[in-house]
Amino acid sequence: MSYTISLTVNGDRRDVTFEDARVTLLDLLRERLALPGTKKGCDRGQCGACTVLVDGRRINSCLTLAVTLDGADVTTIEGLARGDVLHPVQASFVEHDGFQCGYCTPGQIMSAVGLIAEGDVGTDPERIREGMSGNLCRCAAYHGITEAVLDAAR
Ligand code: FES
Repeated sequence: MSYTISLTVNGDRRDVTFEDARVTLLDLLRERLALPGTKKGCDRGQCGACTVLVDGRRINSCLTLAVTLDGADVTTIEGLARGDVLHPVQASFVEHDGFQCGYCTPGQIMSAVGLIAEGDVGTDPERIREGMSGNLCRCAAYHGITEAVLDAAR
């Protein structure tokens, strides 16, 4: 049996056919749609490296079956900047050194964009840390990450 879905990815409509209903959004993005910015860390919902936005809400793409996303609107890290102009959250991560090795950074940034869009982070670092708690950084760059999200949320 094959499955065909139509979804919008970073503003472009994509029609994708696949044979295995277990294909995750993460693998679809990286392996079928040539969008490797979304990272695979744990592949089991524990690290947040694979965070993307689906219909404006942040999700772990490793836990989301592609077959459920017919008609969905997906935004990945590749969809944030406008040409050479970084998204404000990306710019804030650069300004505040919100990374070290950078592997978790796409997920951190997508999670921050979603968190800010949720609208109630305020300017409380503790609320930001809690809101970003699903995104792990093995380099422990948490101070810079929190400062970056705080600044972008202002
Ligand atoms: Fe999806 Fe870790 S790769 S949460």
